[in-house]
Amino acid sequence: MRLALGALTVLENAKILTLQPILFQNPRFLPSREYPDVLVPFLVCTAVIMISAFLITTVKISLRVRARELLRVSQELEASNAKLNALHAMVKEMALKTDLQELMDAAVRSAAKIMGVKACSIKLLEDDQNSLRFASTYGLSEDYLSKGTIDIRKSPINRKIIQGSRYVIGQIDAKDYFAYPEDIRKEGIASMLCLPLRVEKKIFGIFCVYSREPYQLGEADVDFFSLMTDFSALAIENLRSELTKSWFMMKAAHQLRAPLGAIYSMLKMVTDGYLGVINAKQEETIRRCQKRIEMLGNLIKDLLRLGEKRSEAAKPVLYPVSLNKVMMPLVDLYQTQALEHGLEIKFDIQDNIPPILANNRLIDDLFTNLISNAIKYTPRGGRVDVTLAGEGPGWVRFEVSDTGIGIAAEDKSRLFTEFFRTENAKKLVEEGTGLGLVIVKEILERLGGTIQVQSKIGSGSQFTCRLPSPS
Ligand SMILES: Nc1ncnc2c1ncn2[C@@H]1O[C@H](COP(=O)(O)OP(=O)(O)OP(=O)(O)O)[C@@H](O)[C@H]1O
Ligand SMILES: [Mg+2]
Repeated sequence: MRLALGALTVLENAKILTLQPILFQNPRFLPSREYPDVLVPFLVCTAVIMISAFLITTVKISLRVRARELLRVSQELEASNAKLNALHAMVKEMALKTDLQELMDAAVRSAAKIMGVKACSIKLLEDDQNSLRFASTYGLSEDYLSKGTIDIRKSPINRKIIQGSRYVIGQIDAKDYFAYPEDIRKEGIASMLCLPLRVEKKIFGIFCVYSREPYQLGEADVDFFSLMTDFSALAIENLRSELTKSWFMMKAAHQLRAPLGAIYSMLKMVTDGYLGVINAKQEETIRRCQKRIEMLGNLIKDLLRLGEKRSEAAKPVLYPVSLNKVMMPLVDLYQTQALEHGLEIKFDIQDNIPPILANNRLIDDLFTNLISNAIKYTPRGGRVDVTLAGEGPGWVRFEVSDTGIGIAAEDKSRLFTEFFRTENAKKLVEEGTGLGLVIVKEILERLGGTIQVQSKIGSGSQFTCRLPSPS
């Protein structure tokens, strides 16, 4: 301060500081004799210093606010960047999956982690379009999932989402229309966000994240999760259509072989002379037809092989299946068929068999192939017995026995190979491609089941399947 005053005095004496005459025109401010000449410059200097200090403090505060703001923005940017990187990793991981279950498991696991929440689930619409089942979950207890399928006619929230609405709930309480609000609270879920899984206009399921904290998921989270849901929907639908295609191909090829075989046999009857004498020209034309049919047969065989390969890559999703439910429509169907074939058929189905991890379509194919074989290879007056029951802890037994033509011991090992048909079967029934049991074997391999065949030529056969049932 002293230095400043000294400096000001020197400046003033040297007539360099000329503020006094400009600022202090009013006599009231003229320097009195009582004060030294340096007082006015001192006051001016103090004011300048104070104003500068005030300005510096203001600028400092505003800079500090800006820095804080900048830090917040950069932190937000960093968080979004991390989220986007995680989303990129998630999409990359999903794109590499060829197994639908693994793909969905990866999606729920990543989504829960990226969103920083307790749990996540994918529910898919069943074929009946009225129920949803948990196809994949992360962080939810077995107890919570034990409810099985959800009837959307009884669940307004799920119905709305399936119709295309987003559903965000900040605080779950009794007012909400949950089928089991108590279970949700017991599970420790305080808030949730659910979006429809949609590809173009088709909605086929629901993607949900569940948080322990109320009001954890804001508008930005909803938008980000929406992006994640769209990617997941695309990946799931893409793999599912591969699966449908491969099954369609398998089925179509299987169905095509029968009429093709029939045409081949008819032509053979002509060339063998059973329908009268034919001339050389006619025979030549028929032989050419037979060649073409053989070529077609080979093409179908290749298609089937390809179908098998594809179905290996795109295994169907497994979920709890009620065997009783799948069997119900088949009872009537095969009772009618057996009657038409002059057979007696008996169904011994245990009530309420616990659900097994499978797929409705696979179980339907398994039942259908074995029951239809028993009817097909049992002459009139015979009998077919179908049994379905729990067997000890952890297994379900499905058994089909008949009093039909039976299988020779030496043929048993070839039963499950492509296109194999026994001679006695061919004599009894012309149509048949020899693929039904191959499909049965493939299904059992996928479900972790087994099959045993007991048979005696001329007296009948018994096919016993055992399927694992989670206890
Ligand atoms: N219940 C049965 N009794 C006697 N033979 C059987 C029985 N089930 C299967 N077989 C024999 O096993 C063969 C293979 O059966 P599979 O179901 O695979 O083929 P398919 O019935 O001939 O034709 P498709 O592919 O149309 O079902 C049959 O052709 C038949 O020889
Ligand atoms: Mg068959």
